[in-house]
Amino acid sequence: PEIQRSDYTPFAWLIPTIRMEFDLGLDKTRVVTRLDVERNPDADASPTIRLNGDSLELVSITCDGGDCAGHMMDGDDLVVTLEGERHTLEIVTELDPSDNSQLMGLYASNGMLCTQCEAEGFRRITFFPDRPDVLSTYTVRMSGPKAQFPVLLCNGNRTDAGEEGGTHWAEWQDPWPKPSYLFALVAGDLVARTDSFTTASGRKVELNVWVRDGDLDRTEHAMESLKRSMKWDEETFGREYDLDLFNIVAVSDFNMGAMENKGLNIFNTKYVLADPDTATDGDYDGIEGVIGHEYFHNWSGNRITCRDWFQLSLKEGFTVLRDQLFSQDMGSAPVKRIEDVRVLRGVQFPEDSGPLAHPIRPDSYREISNFYTATIYNKGAEVIRMMRTMAGEERFRRGTDLYFDRHDGEAATCEDFVKSIEDGTGMDLTQFRRWYSQAGTPKVRVDLEHTGNSATLKLSQTIPATPGQPNKKPMPIPLKVALFDRQSGENTGEELVVLDQDSAIFTFDGFLQKPVLSINRTFSAPVSIERDVSRDDLVFLAAQDDDPFARYEAMQELMTGYLVGAVTGDLDDAGCKTARGDIAQAMKSVIEDDRLEDLMRGELMSMPSQAYIAEQMLVVDPGRIHAEREALKADLGDRLASQFHALYDRVEGLPFSLDAHAKGARKVKTLVLSYAAASDPAKAAELAAYQYDHSDNMTDRQGALMVLAGLDSPERTDKLQDFYNRYAGNALVIDKWFALQASSLHPDAIDHVKALRGHPDFTLKNPNRVRSLYMAFAANPSAFHAADGEGYDMIADLVLELDPINAQTAARFIPSLGRWRRIEEGRAKLMRDALERVAAAPKLSRDTFEQVTRSLG
Ligand code: ARG
Ligand code: ZN
Repeated sequence: PEIQRSDYTPFAWLIPTIRMEFDLGLDKTRVVTRLDVERNPDADASPTIRLNGDSLELVSITCDGGDCAGHMMDGDDLVVTLEGERHTLEIVTELDPSDNSQLMGLYASNGMLCTQCEAEGFRRITFFPDRPDVLSTYTVRMSGPKAQFPVLLCNGNRTDAGEEGGTHWAEWQDPWPKPSYLFALVAGDLVARTDSFTTASGRKVELNVWVRDGDLDRTEHAMESLKRSMKWDEETFGREYDLDLFNIVAVSDFNMGAMENKGLNIFNTKYVLADPDTATDGDYDGIEGVIGHEYFHNWSGNRITCRDWFQLSLKEGFTVLRDQLFSQDMGSAPVKRIEDVRVLRGVQFPEDSGPLAHPIRPDSYREISNFYTATIYNKGAEVIRMMRTMAGEERFRRGTDLYFDRHDGEAATCEDFVKSIEDGTGMDLTQFRRWYSQAGTPKVRVDLEHTGNSATLKLSQTIPATPGQPNKKPMPIPLKVALFDRQSGENTGEELVVLDQDSAIFTFDGFLQKPVLSINRTFSAPVSIERDVSRDDLVFLAAQDDDPFARYEAMQELMTGYLVGAVTGDLDDAGCKTARGDIAQAMKSVIEDDRLEDLMRGELMSMPSQAYIAEQMLVVDPGRIHAEREALKADLGDRLASQFHALYDRVEGLPFSLDAHAKGARKVKTLVLSYAAASDPAKAAELAAYQYDHSDNMTDRQGALMVLAGLDSPERTDKLQDFYNRYAGNALVIDKWFALQASSLHPDAIDHVKALRGHPDFTLKNPNRVRSLYMAFAANPSAFHAADGEGYDMIADLVLELDPINAQTAARFIPSLGRWRRIEEGRAKLMRDALERVAAAPKLSRDTFEQVTRSLG
């Protein structure tokens, strides 16, 4: 059954306090839950209270200390008949955490116990109204064998502890009322890096990052990132931490990135552990971003939570924006912006143009876990970023201040947020609210005309139909524009134009010649721009635009325009040749521009991904895209061989550091290798092997190995074996070893994946490992889209095997097959066949069932 947003009603009962007692064991944990319930004066009275459960066994229930006559099971839920105003219910459940492979609720991971309750995992621990608008104050007593679980952690503050014989216990109290999805508990043999942070108002907060013994020396970056997050949120959003203790725990079996449980964040080890020998620059950035993200949730998510799960973007969109702005401030702002846009276009745009498209505030769902999407998270962040762009930073801050002030302690809605921004900034956001209800990426058609001394900018928007939404209304689209004088290279200053009708015209005076248009600078709106722009203009912008993002964009447009033309045949041989010449010229000026930082140079040198090129076409032949993209790489590698090598030589040999300069050097080095791999594979193999052998850090080593993994050379086998031997036992690095092979450009990548499935280190029980092999494979178009459909069958087989073990992770593989409408006929049929085979399985999880059904359409 689909749940509808419009069906929301407040819960009939309040549960102001809850007390839980856990008797902990890996195979058997007993939970005693005492709920104080009272009628909710703001809701319609109900003769019963519905307590959600999921795969739970009820051991016993009492009401006010006596028998609880009126209770019954309704499916997985427990429904209790209650008369009168207030009662105390006591419920006993028993769990087997070792048997919990779904990794939702309480589960065992590497001998420790931990929890994941968002969105609906708490109901796998005890019977409870497991919805975000029921807020309670929690007191929790944990007890268990001290030798096995020397560390006992829960939300809030530890208020008491003791021990008897081999058993010890701890009592924790969280003073802040919270919904059940923010509950967390950890018991295990852990060690901590400890530090402290003093807040602006003088509260000294103890900080701990908990990991397994032996991992402690890889926690420094996480701790530093946490302290920077705490400071940044005070300075940028005026938000202070509100407890005396903040714990982070790293676990190796985790469905997602991390979780913002109050005072006890639980993280995938991937987003905690790093040192130069085992983590790439990308890993370091990921840790800083996710630590920030979860910390920022303390206000945008915990102090103000969501009324219902349709409002998920209220906390996720806003928190993603906050973590993006944080990372922008900590490093290179333009490079971070480019990375974020790349994710948006690579993941969210395809979502928006496919069968699973949904608005950032969806109207219905079957399984909420399926809606932790790039649309809710990343497009959600873009929508709030647009409000910030239109208001300006200072005014926007007045809006967020009002939001935090007005809704602190509440379970709020997206509408509450928009209204606060509206009231705080004085903007009228009536029409802007359509961004919350309409799915689909708007297309903006752009034409620039010139007459006399004025330039006329003609803009029009269309929003494509999406499932359930055939017709759309125009939305306000804020576009930053600048016009450049062709001779002087100067522009007249950036302006913000807002297209809020189907079409509009903006006139700019004072141009004797037709200027060069730079539009959607900094990617001010999450739209796709359609325009006929000359390659001359793009070469001009790639070399001269003062907005680094726009420069990147011009390079991408140059290459994408060429590749689309070459794949579709719209460009004839002669046209292709001149286009490649223009691209090489632009690339040369990028390589030789000594005002550029290497980190930014790396972005300008990067080719658009196969997925992004595919997204520009209605129907795609993945094989052709791959071939043309490799051919362009080879051509550039040939033409610019001496420039590439000079660049490599200039940056090589820099000592390791995490500053922008050294990171930039590492980025361009591996880019040079990948161009060389296309044009001169033997030389590239030699250079990559050299880089691999002489590197003192994972970025260079992994970069070299990535290039080698795509080549047929003896160095390939050697270095892959060396890498495996060197890092055997380090799960996160072995994940990289799997992923490198599954995402490689090697023509036999699909066979490599099949073989790796049988590797002794492969397991379906660990989501990181599953993703490292199969997500990497599904995102590798040249392997996944093998013309005979073998790649599709492999993913279908995986889904069927994984679904009973970990439904949430299994369902995440469906969207790759769901793209069939955009793939050429032959493959499209094979993709459908694979989906239908999954759909026909006798027993599917709700997660996978929903995704398959939607994908078949
Ligand atoms: N709120 C978490 C975050 O944004 C994500 C947790 C989602 N977990 C899940 N099982 N769906 O970091
Ligand atoms: Zn989040």
